[in-house]
Amino acid sequence: MQRCALLESTASSPILYHLIPNPHFLLTPPHPMVRAFAPGKCILFGEHAVVYGHPAVAVAIDSGVEVSLTESDSWTIEGMAFDSWRHPHISHILYDVFEYEGPPLKMDISSGLFSAAGLGSSAALSNAMGAAIHSLMRPGETLDSVELARIGHSAEAKAQGGRASPTDTAASALGGCVVVSAKKVEGTRHIFDASLETPEGKRNWSICKVDLPAEFDASLVLGFTGVGSPTGDMVAGVAKLLAEEPERHADMSAIANITQAGLTALSAGNLRAVGMAMDACHERLQALQVSSPALDALVEAARPHSFGAKLTGAGGGGCMVALTDDPQRVSEAIEIAGGRPLISSLGAKGVRTLD
Ligand code: MEV
Repeated sequence: MQRCALLESTASSPILYHLIPNPHFLLTPPHPMVRAFAPGKCILFGEHAVVYGHPAVAVAIDSGVEVSLTESDSWTIEGMAFDSWRHPHISHILYDVFEYEGPPLKMDISSGLFSAAGLGSSAALSNAMGAAIHSLMRPGETLDSVELARIGHSAEAKAQGGRASPTDTAASALGGCVVVSAKKVEGTRHIFDASLETPEGKRNWSICKVDLPAEFDASLVLGFTGVGSPTGDMVAGVAKLLAEEPERHADMSAIANITQAGLTALSAGNLRAVGMAMDACHERLQALQVSSPALDALVEAARPHSFGAKLTGAGGGGCMVALTDDPQRVSEAIEIAGGRPLISSLGAKGVRTLD
């Protein structure tokens, strides 16, 4: 099979590529192995509401997913035969986006994230895979994190029944603190725009960044319930609730206001106000029926030692998050309440290739 180089298309879709023979390949030996890492994310405000164009604020976390690719005689993933049907994100990136036609790959994936827990593990996997494939097919060329965020979003949308905001993939690709909304939010730096045809109509998002103040001296503690959070089902459940009980749109609008207040508090480094907004956001997510007794129990356990706590991500199970200046104590409280804690800083670096 022929090894190829990628050239970005000038056609309407920014994520389509044309393949041309790579003259380099004739002169240089094949790259034996490439590695890339992408962080997970934590949504501080606005999950679910963002699917309807309201703003969400997410930060990249310290833990994430590492992908390594090695050319091989057969296609494997984690030592097992690779079946593209069972790995839609990966096959979408390999074949639909990069139109990979090179030799079979041995794919190894290691994750520091609880899986299906609302920490953006699938977005991190998409981004790390995209970065690794990019590095394999275009050695030496600069990685475009915006391009990867777009690719990851298209993979998420495919896996989530056409309803996915670009929040997870943008936070993981860009790193730091990301604000995603139908229109640019005041006080943020615009990075790129995204759109998607969903079952409820076309959605447009503006993806922006916010610099957290240097004196922002607090940590996040994530608490995993041990129960998976099926994002597609949870998003579909909210769509059904809104169709049956249109008055629930008031909770969406309330989340939008809370998100704005939380963002203002974050930018000012006002930890107490951020915490209050997190508590208020959790109540609205409960009203949208995406919390669970296990999530509520972990949130309650963390609150006495935190500025605030709420579920994070799609809910139904998955994780809660607390903002605290005593992460050890909050971790212990979460563990005693039956959860699995993970401490992180706010706003880790985004996707990158590794040497
Ligand atoms: C999932 O991490 C966040 C949701 O808002 C879905 C999405 O944004 O695609 C529930």
